[in-house]
Amino acid sequence: MAEPLRIGIAGLGTVGSALASVLVSRHALLADACGREIVITAVAARDRERNRGIDLRAMEWFDDPVELARNAQIDVFVELIGGDGDPAHLAVEAALKRGVHVVTANKALLARHGVALARLAEEKGVLLNFEAAVAGGIPVIKAMRESLTGNRVSRVYGIMNGTCNYILTEMEREGFTFAECLKEAQRLGYAEADPTFDIEGNDTAHKLAILTSLAFGTEISADNIYLEGISNISIEDIRAADDLGYRIKLLGVAQRTESGIEQRVHPTMVPKDSVIAQVDGVTNAVAIESDVLGELLMSGPGAGGDATASAVMGDIADIAKSRPGLQHGPALGQPAAKLLPYQRAKMRSHEGGYFIRLTVEDRAGVFASIAKNMADNKISLESIVQRAKHHAPSGLGHQTVVLVTHATTEASVRAAVDAIKHEGYLEGAPQVIRIERPKSG
Ligand code: HSE
Repeated sequence: MAEPLRIGIAGLGTVGSALASVLVSRHALLADACGREIVITAVAARDRERNRGIDLRAMEWFDDPVELARNAQIDVFVELIGGDGDPAHLAVEAALKRGVHVVTANKALLARHGVALARLAEEKGVLLNFEAAVAGGIPVIKAMRESLTGNRVSRVYGIMNGTCNYILTEMEREGFTFAECLKEAQRLGYAEADPTFDIEGNDTAHKLAILTSLAFGTEISADNIYLEGISNISIEDIRAADDLGYRIKLLGVAQRTESGIEQRVHPTMVPKDSVIAQVDGVTNAVAIESDVLGELLMSGPGAGGDATASAVMGDIADIAKSRPGLQHGPALGQPAAKLLPYQRAKMRSHEGGYFIRLTVEDRAGVFASIAKNMADNKISLESIVQRAKHHAPSGLGHQTVVLVTHATTEASVRAAVDAIKHEGYLEGAPQVIRIERPKSG
């Protein structure tokens, strides 16, 4: 058997502790599968006293993860600290510079510095593995980097934030408020340290930026993503979507268009009978549409200690199995020098169907005016539903009008909604939700 593979783990929170535990409990299984033992020789964490349910006494302890990356006798540095700044960035850089393989679950770090780190890994002839950074336990990086080699991808989209999917599912199933569902997601350990990263879509955007690079062979461009979170979604939207045959999901979508690549994260209506609509709770799903394979959809646990640890363990095992000259190719699927500059398609050119919910005064001519503003902007309607809503203290009645458009452009919808805002009969802000259809219907 080859020499054992020596692992240093930086960060012993939920994921780090789960990883240490599975690496120890599956020691023999991993050794048989990889042809060598995998041994944790060093760890870095702030709190030495905390009971993590594993015996860490035989391991060298570092308070500073950068120190571990620079000095520990390790073959693989596992970064589970998080964040796009230091110490995570400095530590990963230090490990790569020393010629140590790196495994990370850190999507924010890769979204910001992924190309530079991939270049450094290539220069040093080491592996940079990051399966756990996108969609938790789903092997989407492996699928894109290895299985889909040679395919031309046209669209990749998915549910990549367990917290948001959990909240939307619970709101729909139980009728709980957004705030109640968020609190429960935090209690269950799904949410990021700052939950606004989840609910405002930043976490999904980081993951999407990485997938976009793998899908289209472009440099990672996390700042060029259209972003809308779910905090604005109400039970009323969920019910109206349901009535019209849709469910609301927070999707990250990257798509090749004639004018460039669209990267967008927003609440999205998906047809109720589509597979992605059935993905509930903390489960994630990623769909990839490509020319040779066709449509691929993978779903599985997207958050939580064990699911993430499983992906990290797989990455470590890949390193244990690799031999010099026998690796799985560059970190981002293409050599870093060959990645194309990212060319952003304008959001105003986005084409698709839209759901528009308006609360309007109940008086003659309002319905006709809405229809006219749609027609003036060449928007064709798939359906239009009007319901009595409530009577304001003034005695003035209000109606909810819900429109679903046929495929149109973002620019047309924005122009129509702006025109309606100026008509003077709207109560509150209009709600606009984009519709996404899987290729297969
Ligand atoms: N907060 C993330 C989620 C964890 O809810 O999916 C995994 O990135």
